[in-house]
Formats: sequence, C-alpha cells, structure tokens
Amino acid sequence: MTVLRARVLTPESPTVVHWFEDAIVVVEHGRITHVGPFDGRPIDEDLRPGVLTPGFVDSHVHYPQTRIVGAASGPLLDWLAKSTFPEEARFADLAHAEQVARVFAAKLAASGTTLAFAYGPVFAGATDALLTEFARTGQRAIVGPVLMDTNCPPDLVVPGTVALEALDELAAKWHGHEDRLFVAAIPRFALSCTPAIMRGAADLARRRDLWVSTHLSENLAECAATTAMFGTDDYLRVYEDAGLLESKSLFAHCLHLSDSEWERFATADAVVAHCPDSNAFLGSGNLPLATVLERGIPLTVGTDVAAGRSFRVARTLSHAYDNALATGRPTMTTELLWWGTCGGARALGFESVGMLAPGYEADMVLWEVPPWAETAEAVLGALLFDGDLPSPRATWVRGHRVFSR
Ligand code: GUN
Ligand code: ZN
Repeated sequence: MTVLRARVLTPESPTVVHWFEDAIVVVEHGRITHVGPFDGRPIDEDLRPGVLTPGFVDSHVHYPQTRIVGAASGPLLDWLAKSTFPEEARFADLAHAEQVARVFAAKLAASGTTLAFAYGPVFAGATDALLTEFARTGQRAIVGPVLMDTNCPPDLVVPGTVALEALDELAAKWHGHEDRLFVAAIPRFALSCTPAIMRGAADLARRRDLWVSTHLSENLAECAATTAMFGTDDYLRVYEDAGLLESKSLFAHCLHLSDSEWERFATADAVVAHCPDSNAFLGSGNLPLATVLERGIPLTVGTDVAAGRSFRVARTLSHAYDNALATGRPTMTTELLWWGTCGGARALGFESVGMLAPGYEADMVLWEVPPWAETAEAVLGALLFDGDLPSPRATWVRGHRVFSR
C-alpha cells in the first residue's frame, strides 16, 4: 500500500471536476482505494505542490514518425510522399526500430500519456519491438503495424497474405498481455490498401476481437482520389464494403464526411479520433464538432504525431478548443479534460482508467503548475493552455512509475 499526499484534480464527467487542495491518494496493488482530503494519517510521499491528475489518452499516434516531428512538407499527400514514407521505410532495420521504440515509449511517458493507440510501420518485427518495449516499461497501449499493399513506395508494400499472417502472430503473442497491451488491425488508409487486405483485416479483427483503426476523410485531395480509385459514392463506403465499419472501429480525422456518412458512422457506433493539431499543421480542415456530439458519437483525441507537433495530449486539447470555437460549438475546460482522460478511455473500452477515484487503476500524472494557480479553474487552464508548462514530474501506470524527472 502507498499513501501519497498531493493536490488532486480529477474529472468525474464532461462537466464536473473535483479539486482537492490537500489530498491523500491510497494505491494498493496498482489500484486506487481511497481519495480524500488529507486527514493526518502517515504518508509515504508528499508530492505537493504538484498536482496529480489521471493519465492522458492519446488515441492516435504514429511510432515510426517520432523522428519527423516538424517536417513541414504538407498538405497530406505531399507530406506522406516526401517526409513520412521514406522515414517509415527505415523500420525494416530492426536496430533502428528498437532505438526509436525506446524513444517513443519514453516520450509518451514524459508527456503524461498512460494509454496510447499507436500505429506502427508496415513491418511486424518493428511493431513487435514497440510491444516488447511497452512490456518492459509497464505502459498501457493498443498497437498494430499499418497494412499497405498497393499504391505506395515498393519498400513499404507487404502483400496481404504475408501482412495478415504476421498480424495474426502478433495478436497471438501480445493481445491482452497483462491486460494492458493489445493489438489492432490498421489498414493505413484506403488509398494504400486493396479491398482484399481490408476485408482480411476486418475478418481477423472480428476473429480475435481486435480494434480496427484507419484514417478517414482527412484531406480533400485524398477524398477525391479515394472515391475515384474505388468507384464509390463516398469515402466511408470503401471501409463499409470491406466490413471495417464496426463498434470497435476508430477513425482518425473525419473532417469532410457527408450527412449520410455521419448517419452510417453513428449507427455503427464507431469512434472518432479527433486530431486537431495535425489537422492544422497539414491544413486539412476542421472537425464538425457539433455534428459528432449531437449524434452521440464517442470522441477521443489523438496527437497524431508527427502530423501533430507534440506528444502532449494537453497540447492537442488546446487545439481542440480552437477547433470547437472555429466551428461554432464552443467547448469548456472540463469537457476537454474528459475527452483527454476518462471519456477517451471509455470510448476505447477501458472502463477502469481515466479518473482518480476508488476502484480505478492508478494511471496518474504529477504536474508542476504556476504557484498562483490555486483553483480548479486556474489549474485546468494552466494544464490545458499554458504552452510553457514544464513536462510532468512523474507518470504512473497501474501504480508503477514509468517516468520521473
Ligand atoms: N493518412 C495515411 N497515413 C497517414 C499518416 O501517417 N498521417 C496522417 N495524418 N494521415 C495519414
Ligand atoms: Zn494518423
């Protein structure tokens, strides 16, 4: 049992946060068993004036893009060709992959991310390297190699049968590991996939109960090329026809969907990964937030490194605030915190993380906020919008410290 004393900020719902100026948090076997005002009991560690929050959820991030943050070669299709595909091809070299996997895992932890949905490169070995690193560090993640079997540089093409067999092996090895590592089926995006590999991915995902994820309707040139290549009336239809539109399907971006596409998306109970920093950096557009929320579609947020410029989910949430204002559906800080923590976790099916409350797993981050931030509102404002806030002091997953400085 560990008894921590700290200032504590935790969401309870999209509209309610709890703030304790002086609290104790008791952790037993990786789970929180008590959170309440300091009551004089003996403590193991005094973390004040630091502020403890739940860990953040990054629902969309690319591990083989760790080294190209800041590659300003957008829009999307140019950025992929010039900056992204050449870098991802380097992951055929396992030594390179292992080195970047260590940096990537460390960056997540140092940014306060305790649950990540990470895309790998096409190479199963390089993806295995990341899962191996997470197994070692104790971090929590959903990971998969991207599937690409057409319409991309030859050194990134992996034929469907080979890629799906390798994915099946990765899933057999890792899916459900210590109930904190999971494997996903990730047809990268329609333009780099044949119908056969997408159908194969959908079948495998169903058979092994894997999450499916892909990019959807990010960029107008991409949308036009997709409907032309597949001869469909709209973008979503391509994934629907392949059996990829399901309740365990997570779609990144979703910027230019029609009413009909949103209707089918909502009916399927699919999930949005909102990537506003990336959308700004590649000039892709804005997410119609009102549409998503009015239809009751579950929303998560993704840094989308390296089209996103920071591993910090808090930065992404700051961009989500801007996107909300720009699209006429303003948001508020409690809602942003919810999307970045408990709301995001629940949308991905993780019911036991995202809140500092009894029964939840101790996935936590310790922040250093300006000394004048003394109310919930001021602390939340600093966490979400102060671009100069230092990186966290410490990050825990299941009560195990995965980062400290
Ligand atoms: N669409 C296909 N691949 C990618 C990628 O790596 N990043 C982004 N932002 N969009 C994509
Ligand atoms: Zn992406």
